[in-house]
Amino acid sequence: MPVVRDKKIEVLFSAEQIERRNRELAEEIALSDLDNPLVISVLKGSFVFAADLIRSLHRAGLSPEVEFISISSYGSGTEAGEPKVLRDIESDVTGRNVILVDDILESGGTLEYVRDLMHSRGASNVALVTLLDKRSRRKKEIEADYVGFECPDKFVVGYGMDVAHAFRELPFVGVVVGE
Ligand code: IMP
Ligand code: MG
Repeated sequence: MPVVRDKKIEVLFSAEQIERRNRELAEEIALSDLDNPLVISVLKGSFVFAADLIRSLHRAGLSPEVEFISISSYGSGTEAGEPKVLRDIESDVTGRNVILVDDILESGGTLEYVRDLMHSRGASNVALVTLLDKRSRRKKEIEADYVGFECPDKFVVGYGMDVAHAFRELPFVGVVVGE
């Protein structure tokens, strides 16, 4: 079991599994034949996934533009609260095919909020992509169009995801053991 910052990390999804799934997802997305796609990465958690996904999309024949949006969805601790835009995208999404990328779909509050925001700004289509789906935690009626992996109801770190700003650099997704 890897040890990072003196903590044991149980690997849930290895770097190899993630890489393979990433390519599959990009091939699926490319099949939908999106014209002039705009990838919007929801910061910070999805930046590693989005960085790999845009390169897989390139290999699958797409040429996406890339944007970032930062949403605060947490009050204190790890309970989800009302989403708020902390840093907005710079592009006009009118008439665009948006590919919204997040790390985890949990309650659904974050992706529902950003999806509705992009529709209200005139996006012609918004496809939802999430690396992990924590279905058991859903509070909103929302499903992703593309899901990397079903995620157990555990707090995960790595591959862009953090706990208290730590562990984003891990090349795999795991759970801190003994917390
Ligand atoms: P939602 O609005 O409840 O769907 O929240 C999803 C967001 O919460 C994701 O974009 C993540 O940033 C964060 N999140 C949810 N679960 C975890 C986790 O297990 N580890 C790290 N971040 C998480
Ligand atoms: Mg997030």
